[in-house]
Amino acid sequence: MKLIENIAQLATCRGEGGQGEVHAIADAAMAWEGAEIRWVGTRRELPATYRGAERLDAGGGLVVPGLVDCHTHLAFGGWRADEFTQRIEGAGYLDIARAGGGIARTVRLTRGAGEEALYRRARGFVREMVALGVTTIECKSGYGLDREHELELLRVYRRLAEAEPVRIVPTFLGAHVVPPEYRERREAYVALLVDELIPEVAARRLAVCCDVFVEESAFGVEEARRILLAGRAAGLASRLHADQLTSSGGAELAAEVGALSADHLEHVSDPGIAAMARAGVVAVSLPIASLYLGADPMPARRLIAAGVAVAVATDFNPGSAPSYHLPFAMTLACTLQRMTPAESLKGATYYAAKALGLEARVGSLEPGKAADFAVMDAPDLQTWLYHLRPNACRLTVAGGRVVWRAPGRADAGELA
Ligand code: NIG
Ligand code: FE
Repeated sequence: MKLIENIAQLATCRGEGGQGEVHAIADAAMAWEGAEIRWVGTRRELPATYRGAERLDAGGGLVVPGLVDCHTHLAFGGWRADEFTQRIEGAGYLDIARAGGGIARTVRLTRGAGEEALYRRARGFVREMVALGVTTIECKSGYGLDREHELELLRVYRRLAEAEPVRIVPTFLGAHVVPPEYRERREAYVALLVDELIPEVAARRLAVCCDVFVEESAFGVEEARRILLAGRAAGLASRLHADQLTSSGGAELAAEVGALSADHLEHVSDPGIAAMARAGVVAVSLPIASLYLGADPMPARRLIAAGVAVAVATDFNPGSAPSYHLPFAMTLACTLQRMTPAESLKGATYYAAKALGLEARVGSLEPGKAADFAVMDAPDLQTWLYHLRPNACRLTVAGGRVVWRAPGRADAGELA
C-alpha cells in the first residue's frame, strides 16, 4: 500500500459533470496498491487503514491524473525544420507538399531510417513526455505507407509498449496520404489497405484503432468510409483526421461510423457538430498544429456548447506540430480556444482517455482505476497552466510506480 499526501490540490477529473468539472479536492491524499487506486479524499478523512502506508510527499503541489496524449505521430525519420521557415516566409502547407515536401518527404526519410533508429528516437521522445507528466500515448503509423514500413512503425510501438513504463495505444494510419508510387492508381492503394493491411494489422494485434486523413489532398469521404468500415469489421475502432484544412464532411462521417473521435476540426460545419453530439464522438483539439500552420483553431466553445466532449492533444509530428509538450497544448487550448484551465485538463485526461476508449481504466483518479498520476510544482491548476513553468512536473507515477522524479529544486512554496 502506498500513500501520497501534502497535496494542495488534487484534480480527480471524473467523467460526470461536463467539460469544466474536474472535481478538485483541496488538502488531499490518495492511496494505491499495486497498479490500482484504492482511496482518494481530503487528508483529514484518510481512513486509519492507510495511515501506515509507505508515503510520498507531494511538496504542497498539484496532483493530476497521468496526462493522456491521445493523438501523436510518434515515430518518423528526419525533421522538416526548413519547412517551418518556408511557411513563415509565406509558403502554404499544401504548396510545400505539392513541391515534394510535407508528409511525402517524411515518408522517404522514414523508409530510409531503419527500425532500430526509429525505435531509439521514439523512445527518447517517450521519456521526455513522461517527464512532463504523460502516462498514456496514442501513436499512429502513417509515414511508412507500404506494407513493410507501416508494419515496422507498428513494431516500434509494440516494443515501446513492452519496454517503457507507459501505456502505448497504437493506431494504424495507412490512410495518411496516397503514397507517390500509387498516385496514378489510388483505388489500388485503398484496396491494399482494405483487403490486406487492415486485416493483417488487426490479426497481429499491432493496432487498436484505424485512422484516416479525410481531406481533398488525402482521402475523400467515400474512400474513408470504406477504410474505416474495413477497420471496424476487423475490430479496429475508428478515428479521423477531419476538417483540418477544409470542411470536407469528416465530422459527419465520424458520427456515421460511430468513431471514438474526430480530430483537428478547424473547419467543422454546424451539421457536423450536431452529428458528433448525437453520436457521442469526442472532438480532439490539436492547437499546436493550428498555431504552427497559422490557422484558426477548432471552435471549441461551439463544440462544448453543443454538448461535444473536447479532448486536447499534441498531434506531435515533424510537419504541422513538432512539439510533444502536452501542457503547452493545454495552455494553447486556454489562450487560443477560450477553454478554462479546468476544461483543458479534463480534455487531456478523462476525455482524452475517452477518445481512446480507455476511460474505464485511465484519465481520472478514482478507486479501481490505474494509479497513473503526476505531481506538478504549482499550488493549483490555474497557476500551473498560466505559469507554464519549464519542468513543472516533479513526479510521474504510472501503474503505481514512480517513473520520473525531477532533480531537486525550489518547491512551489518558495517561488510563490
Ligand atoms: O495531423 N493532418 C495530417 N497529418 C498530420 C501532419 C503530418 C505532417 O505534416 O507530416 C497532422 O497534422
Ligand atoms: Fe495528426
